[in-house]
Amino acid sequence: MRENDCNSNPVFYYAIRTITMSGEDAPAQQQKAEDQKQETKTTEQPKAESKQESQPATEAPAASATATAAEKPPEEEVFTYRSLVLSGHGGYDKVKLQVKKGKPTPKNGEVLVRVKACGLNFADLMGRQGLYDRLPSPPVTPGMECSGVIEAVGEEVTDRKVGDRVLVLHRFGMWQEVVTVIAGHTFLMPEGMSFEEAAALPVNYVTAYMMLFEFGNLRPNQSVLVHMAAGGVGIAATQLCHTVKDVTVFGTASASKHEAISQGGVTHPIDYRTRDYVEEVRKINPKGLDIALDPLGGSDTHKAFNLLKPMGKLITYGAANMLTGQRKNLLAVAKTWYNQFSINALSLMHANKSVCGYHLGHLDDEPELISQVVAKLLELYGQGKIKPRVDSTWHFEQVGDAMRRMQERNNIGKVILLPEPKKEEPKKEEDKKEEKKEEPKKEENKKEEKQEEPKKE
Ligand SMILES: NC(=O)c1ccc[n+]([C@@H]2O[C@H](COP(=O)([O-])OP(=O)(O)OC[C@H]3O[C@@H](n4cnc5c(N)ncnc54)[C@H](OP(=O)(O)O)[C@@H]3O)[C@@H](O)[C@H]2O)c1
Repeated sequence: MRENDCNSNPVFYYAIRTITMSGEDAPAQQQKAEDQKQETKTTEQPKAESKQESQPATEAPAASATATAAEKPPEEEVFTYRSLVLSGHGGYDKVKLQVKKGKPTPKNGEVLVRVKACGLNFADLMGRQGLYDRLPSPPVTPGMECSGVIEAVGEEVTDRKVGDRVLVLHRFGMWQEVVTVIAGHTFLMPEGMSFEEAAALPVNYVTAYMMLFEFGNLRPNQSVLVHMAAGGVGIAATQLCHTVKDVTVFGTASASKHEAISQGGVTHPIDYRTRDYVEEVRKINPKGLDIALDPLGGSDTHKAFNLLKPMGKLITYGAANMLTGQRKNLLAVAKTWYNQFSINALSLMHANKSVCGYHLGHLDDEPELISQVVAKLLELYGQGKIKPRVDSTWHFEQVGDAMRRMQERNNIGKVILLPEPKKEEPKKEEDKKEEKKEEPKKEENKKEEKQEEPKKE
């Protein structure tokens, strides 16, 4: 099968890229990553730099060096910005908060965005473990989406201006206080949309929309299986299903999330942890499903295919089964890889089913297609038909906790990162009073301890 075939499977891609980053896109990725490494190096080593500055230049005479130093104008304040950097593959601690120096300047066709909120995606968890093919090798700044305000525009940018509130979709590098991106990767935020909502929209809703409508051709009275139904894509897919009349949504999620997803539009919530979801679907729909969305991979792709009615469509778009803990689990990767779904064209024809593969990260060269989808989504948002659900917000310094929340399966909706520093919460009056009460006690304890000491000896 060719890569662009409808039934190309992303599991292949994940696993192959786990072993080695090769293929057509490698040089471009490496180039971008090199740029980032350059930038990080200069800012990561302030100590080394200042050492060099303090050393006398070898070729210049000492006297002229002193003269230059005397003439030197007072140093301008250096522009700095906070950036999250993946320093290596592994656990939560591999994502570090760094302060970079030097204001990025937008090139031709680019804009500079002051970032207000960023989206955390499942792919960022996989990227941290070295399981996501579209993230260049570390050190690299992850982040595929953000929202913010345009602070500068490069030449040849005609449809964006300083002060525009925008949401941004870009392959990586968005977890920063300021970013430069191609103007075409930004979309004007509608009135009333918060920065958190805007950062929650691009990846989840574009993915859900393209799967359900571009591939799935969802129509009234159809039935859809949505796995990870309480997650970012899951909630987006459920809301989009209900833009079509009388669609039945089967949604798998942990039991504690069922009330939330039922309220959000899932017709039949299924606790996949304690029940066999295939049996549960068959009990309600003996004939099966019209559309099955598969973000899990491995044996779940087979199950999804088998659950389809004649003329049903399977859309495979992830390999979450590869992720079992904080660090890469080679056994889980191998198991997902080994159990991946494959079918030959003749069997597919006899089954009267369709198998599609979707990967937003491989649609970089289709900006018009993406723009059209975002425009439709913003229209639906304006009509009140979709609304991103924000699970929680975390400051950059809390990125490990934010990732943990998603990875330990606690989120309902989107996890958002905020570039602005976490403010120290002012102590409540009651706490202050308590502390004052405690102080004399502590003094007494100290005295008692001193008296006790000789006894101990
Ligand atoms: N192909 C594409 O272009 C594309 C784009 C976006 C997302 N995706 C895929 O879509 C899926 C959802 O992504 P998302 O960003 O919206 O994340 P998400 O659904 O918010 O992910 C977290 C939730 O997934 C569930 N889950 C299932 N298996 C898990 C596992 N092995 N580890 C941790 N949590 C697991 C957990 O909830 P419950 O246990 O309660 O279900 C958890 O709370 C992922 O597979 C992702 O790779 C693909």
